[in-house]
Amino acid sequence: MSKKTALITGVSGQDGSYLAELLIEEGYKVIGLLRRQSVAENQTTRLLAPSLESNLELIYSDLLDETSIFKIVDQYKPDEIYNLAAMSHVRISFDVPSFTIKTNSIGVLNLLEAIRNFSPKSKFYQASSSEMFGNSVDEDGSQRLTTPMNPVSPYGCSKLMAYKLNSHYRNAYNLHLTSGILFNHESPRRGSNFITNKVVKGAVLIKKGVEKNLYLGNLDSKRDWGHSYDYVRAIYKIMQYKTARDWIVATGSTRSVRELCDYVFNKLEMNYEEKVKFDPKFLRSEELKYLRGDPSETKELLNWQPVYTFESMIDEMIDHWYSEI
Ligand code: GDD
Repeated sequence: MSKKTALITGVSGQDGSYLAELLIEEGYKVIGLLRRQSVAENQTTRLLAPSLESNLELIYSDLLDETSIFKIVDQYKPDEIYNLAAMSHVRISFDVPSFTIKTNSIGVLNLLEAIRNFSPKSKFYQASSSEMFGNSVDEDGSQRLTTPMNPVSPYGCSKLMAYKLNSHYRNAYNLHLTSGILFNHESPRRGSNFITNKVVKGAVLIKKGVEKNLYLGNLDSKRDWGHSYDYVRAIYKIMQYKTARDWIVATGSTRSVRELCDYVFNKLEMNYEEKVKFDPKFLRSEELKYLRGDPSETKELLNWQPVYTFESMIDEMIDHWYSEI
């Protein structure tokens, strides 16, 4: 039997790289889409696993270049298409709202139109986000598929538009279009301007005497943090599920940024209260204060179980930066 083909947009990102490794383990041929960057070496720093060498084909593209997207989907007619490409930084989306909306909403429309017109048998996964909920929370303190969505950032609005387009195209054109509402997920491969890796890297720099302090914004916001390694396994299961639908991927527990700082600095035998300083430039114009997803249905129907705990994930990140710096 010939190999299944999967297309991953955003293959050079945290989730894209873990997913490419998983799909190759599962016997797929993977096509990865890359955006051109001026420092070519930076494009593939997460794509170093030896298994990727012969099974991953990289192609330059961009979600906003519909001619390129249409051509690639038409040429490969992939069995599965995973859209992980996005302008993914919430605070930066306030600086570049137009780019964020174009990439994260119109970019998804381009993919949906490519599938509808050139490869209607392709299964599709859209990376949706818990940022779509904004500050809506159910009475029991969780967010789930039925929780109202009232985003509080250009990023959240852009992801909500894509989420709605995806379910609309699923119903209107009978396509296999899935979506995972993923809560925050981290790893040593996380960009170091997201809070977990920023705190871990910053604390290690202080421990090693390179820096004196770490500057952060709101320490009181709470997030539900899981590991990208586990979450790409949920994404894969979402794609294999018999029907196309939306899913929640979360751990079900929540912690504040302050608790994160406390854990990391304690591990490194320091007191975060002495080292962490406030800088208002890291605040957002409107803050999403609290996230805790309810993963019960996803765990049950997909038989999905994360292997990392919050502590084992952060410990892995600390070890990574300790050996790197
Ligand atoms: N990045 C950052 N930098 N965040 C800070 C800082 C800081 O200096 N200080 C406090 N925070 C707080 C933010 O205000 C936010 O409440 C929390 O830390 C987490 O911020 P991020 O790690 O930047 O992630 P995010 O929650 O905004 O967004 C991530 O999760 C979404 C899912 O809910 C991103 O991965 C999104 O792409 C993803 O969709």
